[in-house]
Amino acid sequence: MSIMRIITCDRVCPVYVGYPIEKTGEKLRGKRYGKKVLLLSDSNVYPLYGDRLARSLSSEGKEVFNMTLPAGEKTKNFENLIRIVEWCAEKKMGRDDTLITLGGGMVSDIGGFASSIYMRGINFVCAPTSLLSQVDASIGGKTAVNLPCGKNLAGSFYQPSLVMIDLKTISTLPAREFSQGVAEIIKYGVIRSSAIFRMMEKGGPLRNEEIKYLVGESIRIKKYCVERDEKERKGLREILNFGHTLGHAVEISGFPSFSHGESVAAGMVGETYLSFRLGICDRITYERIKNAVASWNLPYSLKNMNIEKALTFLQYDKKVRQGKIRFVMPRKISSVKRGVTLTVGDAWKILREIC
Ligand SMILES: NC(=O)c1ccc[n+]([C@@H]2O[C@H](COP(=O)([O-])OP(=O)(O)OC[C@H]3O[C@@H](n4cnc5c(N)ncnc54)[C@H](O)[C@@H]3O)[C@@H](O)[C@H]2O)c1
Ligand SMILES: [Zn+2]
Repeated sequence: MSIMRIITCDRVCPVYVGYPIEKTGEKLRGKRYGKKVLLLSDSNVYPLYGDRLARSLSSEGKEVFNMTLPAGEKTKNFENLIRIVEWCAEKKMGRDDTLITLGGGMVSDIGGFASSIYMRGINFVCAPTSLLSQVDASIGGKTAVNLPCGKNLAGSFYQPSLVMIDLKTISTLPAREFSQGVAEIIKYGVIRSSAIFRMMEKGGPLRNEEIKYLVGESIRIKKYCVERDEKERKGLREILNFGHTLGHAVEISGFPSFSHGESVAAGMVGETYLSFRLGICDRITYERIKNAVASWNLPYSLKNMNIEKALTFLQYDKKVRQGKIRFVMPRKISSVKRGVTLTVGDAWKILREIC
């Protein structure tokens, strides 16, 4: 068990790593978290862990209300956001009360957003249960819902008051969902940690101690970026976007239909190839990153993807300015160069070689 603290301008958020879910109640002891707690979860996760969390909260005298949303990304929309906020109002929750999310990044994104707008901000506690949400979505304070015309287009920056990570919850995660987290962990290795990368390039399965190490180190890297550039205005947080420019294009183009983690995996390989061809990294670095992705059975080849079409989707992306796409490119393992720009045409000319 370990504790980290994410320190941002108006909050210190403790992150408890490796604590059983049953300990959540005691961490919310006292007046600071109010009396009423809305426990927001999804239809897969609540049946697995919901009762344990609810019991731990009730045993501390909290009045617990549940709201269980259908699992899946489609749920992360405005209609459900309004339902959550209205539920808080119906239950007469006050400014000192708490909304706690139990589940993956979908519930923490929508639940975090709801916490930030109900009464202009109530306590938000996050109990992430997917590997991706433990290493990424629960940390850093970005909250959002999707709009019909794009992902995460409405949201806020709102730091949780507390994050409670029970690593044992990962054991019930379906293999494809586990891989989503793996892709983000490989990313952390490439941008800042050779130790993480070395552990990941040997492929799976991972021992429990290794998972604990990887989750802790990933959070440490995200903490480093978030504390120095909380609102993504200074450029440092941008390094977390490695693999995500091309990955996002692949994901939204839907050819083929890849999950976020799979798209980021292919995106990391493509962006490293660009880096190699621009002389920013050497071929060995490119081969190592490609092999690390392949060793987890994540997509590494761009051959069956319509990258040209995917790149055209990028015109609407936040990372495109005046027709130029901004990339984060590896220099070597654990070091990246940010703000590398290419036109869609030039990026396509290079990527065609491996498509
Ligand atoms: N806010 C951020 O900084 C940030 C960062 C990365 C991703 N995200 C967002 O996070 C979401 C993706 O996160 P995700 O992959 O956790 O998605 P998710 O919440 O949809 O979870 C994926 C699936 O795993 C299931 N699940 C979760 N934990 C489980 C467990 N322990 N056992 C069994 N099933 C479990 C869920 O029910 C769901 O079916 C996206 O909406 C993405 O935009 C946000
Ligand atoms: Zn991601």
